[in-house]
Amino acid sequence: MLDLRSDTVTRPTPGMRAAMAAADVGDDVFGEDPTVCKLERRMAEVTGKEAALFVSSGTMGNQLAIATQTRPGDDVVVGEGAHPVFYEGGAGAALSGVQFNVVGRGGFYTPEELEAAMHPPVYFAPRTSLVMIENTHNRAGGRVWSAAAALAVADGAHRLGLSAHLDGARIWNASVALGVEVGVLCAPFDTVSACFSKGLGAPVGSALCGPRALVEDARRVRKRWGGGMRQVGILAAGALYALDHHRNRLAEDHVNARRLAERMARVDGVHVDVSAVETNIVNMDLDVPAADVAVAARHLGVLIGPSAPRRLRAVLHLDVPSSSVDGVADALERAIGVVARSPR
Ligand SMILES: Cc1ncc(COP(=O)(O)O)c(C=O)c1O
Repeated sequence: MLDLRSDTVTRPTPGMRAAMAAADVGDDVFGEDPTVCKLERRMAEVTGKEAALFVSSGTMGNQLAIATQTRPGDDVVVGEGAHPVFYEGGAGAALSGVQFNVVGRGGFYTPEELEAAMHPPVYFAPRTSLVMIENTHNRAGGRVWSAAAALAVADGAHRLGLSAHLDGARIWNASVALGVEVGVLCAPFDTVSACFSKGLGAPVGSALCGPRALVEDARRVRKRWGGGMRQVGILAAGALYALDHHRNRLAEDHVNARRLAERMARVDGVHVDVSAVETNIVNMDLDVPAADVAVAARHLGVLIGPSAPRRLRAVLHLDVPSSSVDGVADALERAIGVVARSPR
């Protein structure tokens, strides 16, 4: 089976497993796990922030950023399709009591659109405290915020007296696609969350990076939420291995995504904007129900997920080798043909 449902499905490689098995560990709730401390120092350095906190997931990273930079009742400005709005179980409302103010189009917005979304400073209006962007943007199909566009929004937020958070679950892909250092892409933001368990291929984990005092506050909230882990250096070792070995190869996933998109764009009944395929995600709009195509594709050895009634999302990653991309395209073409020909 080739699994293109997400880049979270990767399995640790033998080298990563060996690094994890050999990890030096301690009790991280006491701050005594040397491998976690090493990963946190490394992430602070990579993102150019004072400190970093190892957390269980990208969701926890985003939610800690919200919890530490807002008060209940506040507005958090996000772009369309933002991960915390769609996929975090309503945690913004449930855990921090915030509401989301969605601006712009397709996940991207400008400082002008941000400013226009501000409420008048009257007692009955919510206070806006935090602005978030997602780079790369998941629901937009892995599209990339340029360094300049991200800087403009973060600067705009700061001019308005707001904090700026970067959901950098796939910041590694953005960096490779733009040829710009991760630290440069993170620099304009107060906080950044970045994931090890997506394209980088580690089994678990993300980091929240930012000012030391904020990160220490997040450590307290992480414990409150049950996220304090013990000999978790075993997992941090997987993340360190991923940082050392799996970053540069992301370019291969981007080439594979483009090749799949180009192939699928030639298939009858498939609509793919090839120019929008900037990283490792391919959105394909279909004339037939996407869920039916996913079932047919499974019978042909390809797992793929519908992200809307007539949209399939394919995600390229470490466990989808370049040599299999044409086979995936053939299987999807056949699956679409089967569904198109079946009586409805
Ligand atoms: C943009 C973005 N942010 C955050 C997350 C959350 O990550 P996790 O699944 O580790 O909670 C994801 C997961 O796919 C994501 O795509």
